[in-house]
Amino acid sequence: MVFGCDYNPEQWGSDVWRDDVRLMRDAGIGLVALNIFGWSNIQPREGEFDFADLDEIIDLLHANNIRVNLGTGTASAPPWLSTAHPEILPMAEDGTTRYPGGRQAWCPSSPVFREYALHLVEAVASRYGAHPAVALWHVSNELGCHNALCYDDDSAVAFRTWLRHRYDTIDALNEAWGTSFWSQRYGAWDEILPPRAALSLRNPAQRLDFQRFSSDELLDYYRSECAVIRRHSAAPVTTNFMVTAHIRNLDYWTWVDDVDLVANDHYLDHRLPNPTAELSFAADLTRGLAKGEPWLLMESSAGAVNWQPHNLPKQPGEMTRNSVSHIARGADGVCFFQWRASPQGAEKFHSALIPHAGTDSEVWRETVALGRLMTDLAEVAGTRVESHVAILFSWEAWWAADGEARPSQAVNYLQQVHAVYSALRELGVTVDVVSPSASLDGYRLAVVPSLHLVSDDDATRLTSWVEAGGHAVVTFNSGIVDDCDRVRLGGYPGAFRDMLGVRVEEFVPVLPGDVVHLDSGATAGLWTERLTLTTADAISRYTDGPVPGLPAVTRNMFGAGEARYIATALDETALREQFRVALVEANVAIRALGGSGAVEVVRRASADRSYVFVINNSSEEVTIPVVGHDLVTKVDISQFLRVPAGAARIVRETAA
Ligand code: GAL
Repeated sequence: MVFGCDYNPEQWGSDVWRDDVRLMRDAGIGLVALNIFGWSNIQPREGEFDFADLDEIIDLLHANNIRVNLGTGTASAPPWLSTAHPEILPMAEDGTTRYPGGRQAWCPSSPVFREYALHLVEAVASRYGAHPAVALWHVSNELGCHNALCYDDDSAVAFRTWLRHRYDTIDALNEAWGTSFWSQRYGAWDEILPPRAALSLRNPAQRLDFQRFSSDELLDYYRSECAVIRRHSAAPVTTNFMVTAHIRNLDYWTWVDDVDLVANDHYLDHRLPNPTAELSFAADLTRGLAKGEPWLLMESSAGAVNWQPHNLPKQPGEMTRNSVSHIARGADGVCFFQWRASPQGAEKFHSALIPHAGTDSEVWRETVALGRLMTDLAEVAGTRVESHVAILFSWEAWWAADGEARPSQAVNYLQQVHAVYSALRELGVTVDVVSPSASLDGYRLAVVPSLHLVSDDDATRLTSWVEAGGHAVVTFNSGIVDDCDRVRLGGYPGAFRDMLGVRVEEFVPVLPGDVVHLDSGATAGLWTERLTLTTADAISRYTDGPVPGLPAVTRNMFGAGEARYIATALDETALREQFRVALVEANVAIRALGGSGAVEVVRRASADRSYVFVINNSSEEVTIPVVGHDLVTKVDISQFLRVPAGAARIVRETAA
């Protein structure tokens, strides 16, 4: 079980370093990320390297048995490089340059940037590749956090190369992009540009491919750093993903085979209605990326961040609860950004394990206690989370669904995914979040929220699985376009029409704020459809709104399975009720472990041991039936575990 942090010793005089390492030992810090933004320090000028400080820090950590998660240092180019080569700077879609002064000011397709960056990686990897302290390599940092979509000429050249690989002929590209529309037919590859800002709506298929290209381009960049590292080091290599609510530019399903360990950065987002539900979702999705294997929380915060409009500190116990929630959902370690709060720079109001106030602080005391707990949780490492329910999640569908021109700008992919996830979480059901291409073997219920884009193969896989006896719940705006963003004709939702036994002639959005009523007593909003039943039964119908009398929720027996369709955005209670029924029919136990929403209860198990995690985010004490030994309080539990408001508990279960 890893307990770690980002450490930026370059921001401090060397007199602080020894203190830092002593305190790290006090807190049980076992892994330290270094050199993440180190470039201008270790290469102060072209052709000149200075590793003295980094050598000293790495040796100091090693002497204290603290392992290093070594950054390649390429995340932010130094001023000398962007001054000598301004062509590396990224360009926004309106053609304006993004200048240095912040971070990540480089174009992912810039050959010049890549040459300099790989030269740095060569220097770092050859120097430290065999150092016994280096336990993990950290390529760059949050690739694509700011620069994923770059529209400059280097990107245009690389985009064309990518398109040639994908389509082979210009005719195939014209066909895929539907360029007969608005006189967009291309005669030569050189005519194609990134989808820069235009006077009107842009070609959606071009934009979708640009998203794919941009994700692939950074993956290719990641691979180029990896290749250099692997020539010098046998240590595992990874980079920190951003599975979070506010960043969506990388399709991580296509990245996971290239990382030796899935690592994610997660920060609570107080702009969302339910930040801890989003944390759970992100952690479950990260476990999906790790294909169920343990993963690492590479960054999280001890308290407030600095980049939301209102940056709330954590309440006492909240850092521990959030950490335990990630572990419950499969993390075999939690790390923090960062060790010591900066007095200067853009992140001076970002929290850290040692706040500005110093070690005489609640945050530090909680850090030390969490470090102890992490040691006590060593035995949990390697166990796996159990789930019978899968949510199908897709970055491609996200890109396509939230494009420029669509039936309703008020409908947002991630919000719809979060809505179904929250309904299941409220019902105390642990879910896996998987790719639409994942095998559904072993699951009892597949949930398909607003999967606007789905490939033929993925649609067939789901449909065959249901036909063979699986249960599915599909929500509106699913199965509409193919992987070229081409509408599937003959009535929506084209890909799932037969499986769902419905046919939709028109989408009828509901204006934001307007409410429609259903004969079940439910309310709904945002979206309705002119839907007719082919083989399905109506479970409920609208009593008012734009399509009174038409079905809102349906159920279809399909082969040996069952497929339910929710054609509108139901209110929370009604959505939960739909899932309650679907779960029962799919033979999935509700609240099997006693959890519900704010009270998260998750089991991790292996062949020889199992642990029940309880994270009580509520303001009431809760009682959970479990027998075993509580690793937090060190108390045996003979029947019921009492978990005070705001506390987290982890019980090693006694074998039945
Ligand atoms: C991440 C980043 C860190 C730090 C942190 C602040 O995006 O990797 O370097 O900036 O956010 O929340």
